Amino acid sequence: MAHDLSKRVALVTGASRGLGAAIARKLAGAGARVAVNYFGGREGATRVVEDIRRSGGEAEAFQADVRDERDIVRLVGEVRARFGPVEVLVLNATGPQPYVKLEELTWRHCLDQLEFFVKSPVLLAQAVVPEMKERRAGRIINIGSEVFEQGVPEFSNYVSAKGAQLGLTRSWAQELGPWGITVNLVAPGWIPVERHAGEGLTDAHKQSYASGNALRRMGTPDEIGDAVAFLASDAARFITGQKLSVNGGRTLA
Ligand SMILES: NC(=O)c1ccc[n+]([C@@H]2O[C@H](COP(=O)([O-])OP(=O)(O)OC[C@H]3O[C@@H](n4cnc5c(N)ncnc54)[C@H](OP(=O)(O)O)[C@@H]3O)[C@@H](O)[C@H]2O)c1
Repeated sequence: MAHDLSKRVALVTGASRGLGAAIARKLAGAGARVAVNYFGGREGATRVVEDIRRSGGEAEAFQADVRDERDIVRLVGEVRARFGPVEVLVLNATGPQPYVKLEELTWRHCLDQLEFFVKSPVLLAQAVVPEMKERRAGRIINIGSEVFEQGVPEFSNYVSAKGAQLGLTRSWAQELGPWGITVNLVAPGWIPVERHAGEGLTDAHKQSYASGNALRRMGTPDEIGDAVAFLASDAARFITGQKLSVNGGRTLA
C-alpha cells in the first residue's frame, strides 16, 4: 500500500467510470471507505464497488446529481449514515465538454461547465466543511486540467471553468488552512478513458500528443489515482493551495 488512508471516509464525485473510478479504486486500495458517486451510470458504479469489495476494500455507490443542492444534502447525509462524516472530498465529476467557437458561444455553454467546476464544488464543500472544521482535519482535492495552462482554441467554456476551479482551490486553501483542512488540485493531461473510445481518436493522435510530453508517453487513470491518494494522505499534510500537474511534464507550471 503506497499511502495509508485506513478507514478514512472519501467521497469521489463522478466515480462510475473514467478517472473517478480509478481514483475510487486507488483510495480504497489505500484503505479508505469510499463513497462512489454516480449520476446515470448505476451499472458502472456497481462494478467499481464490486471490484473494490473483491479486493478487500470498502465502498458503496450513491446516486446524486452533484449540480443539485438538494441532491448534495441528501448525498452527504447518506454517506454520513453509511460511513461517517466525509474526510476526503474529491471533486471530479464532469458532464459533456463541447468545443464551441467564440462566435457561437452562449452563456449557457459557459454555465454548463461552471455548474460542474464551481457550483458543485461550492455546494459540496459547504456540505462537508463544517464537520471537517469540528475535527480540525480534512482534504479537498479538485480535479482540474492542464488546459488552463495551455489555453485551447474553441474550448473557452471548459478552460475558463477549470481556471475558476483553481481559483476556488487557492482561496479555500487560505480560508480553511487554520482548521487543518488542505485544498489542492490535480491537473491531468489527456488521459484516455471510456468516453474517448467513441470520439474517433487513433493511435496517431495519442502518439502525437505523447510526443509533446517530457516523458514521451500517455498517462493512465491509475497515475491520476496515485496523485490523489498522495494528496489525501498524511504524507501531503504540509501541502495546500497547490496545483499538481500529472501530465508527464507537458506543462511546467
Ligand atoms: N480524461 C481526461 O483526459 C481528463 C483530462 C484533464 C482533466 N480531466 C478531468 O477529470 C475529471 C474526470 O474526467 P473523465 O474524463 O474521467 O470524465 P468521464 O469519463 O466523462 O466521467 C464523468 C463522470 O462524471 C459523472 N457525472 C456526469 N454528470 C454528473 C452529475 N450531474 N452528477 C454526478 N456525476 C456526474 C459521470 O457519471 P455517470 O456515468 O453516472 O453519469 C461519470 O462518472 C473531470 O473533472 C475532467 O474535467 C479529464
